[in-house]
Amino acid sequence: MIVAGIMSGTSADGINVALVRIQGRGFRSRFELLAHYEFPYPANVRRTILASMNAGSASVPDLSRLHFFLGELYADAVRAAQRRARLECELVGCHGQTLYHQGSPAVFLRRRIACTWQSGEAAIIAAEVGVPVVSDFRPADMAAGGKGAPLVPFLDYVVYRHRRYGRIVQNLGGIANLTAIPPRALPQDVVAFDTGPGNMVIDAVTERLFERPYDRNGRIAARGEPIERVLQQLLRNSFFRQKPPKTAGREQFGREFVRELLRLCHRADDSDIVATATALTAHSIGIAVRKFVLPLVEPPARFRELVVSGGGTKNPTLMRMIREDLAPLKMRVRTSDDFGLPSQAKEAVAFAMLAYQTWRHLPSNIPSATGAERPAILGKISYV
Ligand SMILES: Nc1ncnc2c1ncn2[C@@H]1O[C@H](COP(=O)(O)OP(=O)(O)O)[C@@H](O)[C@H]1O
Ligand SMILES: [Mg+2]
Repeated sequence: MIVAGIMSGTSADGINVALVRIQGRGFRSRFELLAHYEFPYPANVRRTILASMNAGSASVPDLSRLHFFLGELYADAVRAAQRRARLECELVGCHGQTLYHQGSPAVFLRRRIACTWQSGEAAIIAAEVGVPVVSDFRPADMAAGGKGAPLVPFLDYVVYRHRRYGRIVQNLGGIANLTAIPPRALPQDVVAFDTGPGNMVIDAVTERLFERPYDRNGRIAARGEPIERVLQQLLRNSFFRQKPPKTAGREQFGREFVRELLRLCHRADDSDIVATATALTAHSIGIAVRKFVLPLVEPPARFRELVVSGGGTKNPTLMRMIREDLAPLKMRVRTSDDFGLPSQAKEAVAFAMLAYQTWRHLPSNIPSATGAERPAILGKISYV
């Protein structure tokens, strides 16, 4: 079956569409990536999305409009992908644009409520593309007691499990998250969690200080030096010490966090500040690996590889800092491109795979990764 996976992450940089041929069932599914395209959001759309994510007081009519508007953009993206690849999909899996995610329950109207919200109306996509659409993957996991994230570990387990050694799969999106797969792991041995910011803080600081949406090719950070004092202070944030499973988003590393970073950097050189934000991502990954991943396996079995994906792989300064941080652990740093999965396509492929499982009535959350009490069939289906 040919499935189109649509992903748009917390960076709100744009829409990734992967066209994937999938067969088999569950963890034995096999897939072939047929084509992958990226459709950047126009600047005004990106601005509107970022404002909707950050605002405590976004207007309900505007959010509702944005929801249907994104449905149209997703449909356009799939149709453009199909035209360029000269292929037609039979099913779509659409993650949607996360506007809010609160994975752990908190008291609301005297009940403990966890919630999540991915925007982009799937009925619009189904109508315009002409095939069924699976969307809204996260709530079913949360209804089963999970944090609704991360969901990509399903794909990570299918692709990266290894009989002799452990692998850590590290995604560098707006948020950075890892999947740790011990040697010969069963699905319940997989551990996954958000390590902290990926590109989100780097992007925000670069935007503030240099009026550019991101630090292209890590050039600004390469000119600067991380400010050690600030770095240590930021790494004291309780998120980094919290035990997995744990999830992060703009709620933790958005505007407030960046304001604090800039305050701590008071009068420092602008490129040093970008270097500090970059080092924060690298060090928080190093901490997560040492504290929560390496202890998972008894020597001599060990984690030998870190496989990196996401937009952050295009930032050589960030990649260098990650390599340097992990060097003492003798871990090889590779990219998912080395495995035939382009860094930018990986998450879109994951949502094609998850949609396919749902279409087959199969569960696809990994309870040890999300904290759910049981496997759950994820998502809702919109028919044509
Ligand atoms: N050439 C590049 N140089 C540096 N950073 C880049 C480059 N290309 C992409 N990025 C970073 O990757 C981010 C997008 O990554 P992505 O994996 O799409 O994240 P998300 O899943 O949150 O949308 C951009 O916001 C930017 O920070
Ligand atoms: Mg993106």
